[in-house]
Amino acid sequence: MSKQKVVVYGASGYTGRLVCEYLRELNIPFIAAGRNAKRIQEVMNCIPGIETANYRVVEVKHEVDALAKLFDQAEVVCNMVGPFIKLGQQVVEACLKANCHYLDTTGEQDWLLYAQSEWGDKFAKQKLLLSPGIAHMYTTGEIAANICLETPGVDTLDILTLWKGLPTISSTQTIFTILKANWYYLEENKLVEWKPGQSYEVNVPGQHEQTLVLPWGGTSHPVWFEKDPRVATCKVLGGVFSREVMQGVIEAQKMIEDKIKTLPLSEQENALSAIASSVQGSMPPRENPRINKSVDSVYASGPLTRVHCVIYGNCNYKQTGLLQAYAARSLLMEKPKRIGLASACQAFGHRNLLGILRNFGLVMNPVVTIQN
Ligand SMILES: NC(=O)c1ccc[n+]([C@@H]2O[C@H](COP(=O)([O-])OP(=O)(O)OC[C@H]3O[C@@H](n4cnc5c(N)ncnc54)[C@H](OP(=O)(O)O)[C@@H]3O)[C@@H](O)[C@H]2O)c1
Repeated sequence: MSKQKVVVYGASGYTGRLVCEYLRELNIPFIAAGRNAKRIQEVMNCIPGIETANYRVVEVKHEVDALAKLFDQAEVVCNMVGPFIKLGQQVVEACLKANCHYLDTTGEQDWLLYAQSEWGDKFAKQKLLLSPGIAHMYTTGEIAANICLETPGVDTLDILTLWKGLPTISSTQTIFTILKANWYYLEENKLVEWKPGQSYEVNVPGQHEQTLVLPWGGTSHPVWFEKDPRVATCKVLGGVFSREVMQGVIEAQKMIEDKIKTLPLSEQENALSAIASSVQGSMPPRENPRINKSVDSVYASGPLTRVHCVIYGNCNYKQTGLLQAYAARSLLMEKPKRIGLASACQAFGHRNLLGILRNFGLVMNPVVTIQN
């Protein structure tokens, strides 16, 4: 039996389970790890065909030494225990200690910036990949942006990313965590702070009804494109399709500005976590491609060039699970295209990632319009 070189940490969660499902489909042996072995095994038992997977369940404490001891047996860690700004530190440190590549599913710009400054060089020195944010938000949009950038001359990215569905427990905690952070866009290769409280009505390609969106934590794209010689400016808007949910987030954002940000830093996290728990306290249903849709649209422009790329997809949590499993498989087989801090597209190539999403039925062929 081949060795299990991939650890899925947080395998009992909604996304962790999906990563395990796709690792099975890609024929990659794995360790399903987390804080409660019984719960993980119950979740694994629900995966159709799991009896054909090469895996084992391991219970581990959320502490650097315990995690590093487990990771010593592996090469790649897929961390599914978020919010990462709150819980990610021990896992990254353990990866460095055990000499493992680190992947997570963050959509949180503050975590990405922190990971970059804290560990980017250290991972590069150990020839390891540090890739926070291999997930629908924001890899699918990054694929669309890179398709636009295949046309020379564009330097500005105007990105919209949307999904339809209910957030999981950790996703809800994450949404509230990012509400207290500063959010940045990229203007002439400098990160510029969004003014708090900004929201926009946007036209979504392929529908008549407008949608309400936010800068949604700033997103990962401004960080990924900050040092890309082709790109000077990158602004991103996004959220979920439900207007009601978006209005709720806008109200929560206002309340956080007025009431939570005035609290001492140590009390802010607990207060936010309590609000998040009251909003989403249970596991949402398994995704349904007829209901759970995604749209990632990029208007790219330059002085005399315009490109528009739209990727229509479904089941954004499944997209996330598949992207993680593919990244892990790739790292077992060849060196990433970049080491240190790198996005999914920088490490694995946007056309490869698009190919895997297309072949598992999760996104349509991108719709690309070029004017130059
Ligand atoms: N950017 C994107 O597009 C995207 C997409 C999907 C997910 N995500 C992110 O991925 C993360 C996971 O999401 P999810 O959907 O899997 O959430 P979930 O269903 O709530 O699962 C969370 C997992 O983390 C574990 N966990 C929570 N607190 C822990 C702690 N203190 N110590 C150890 N383990 C802990 C849970 O273990 P128990 O079962 O023992 O509670 C569970 O395995 C979230 O941060 C979410 O925002 C991002």
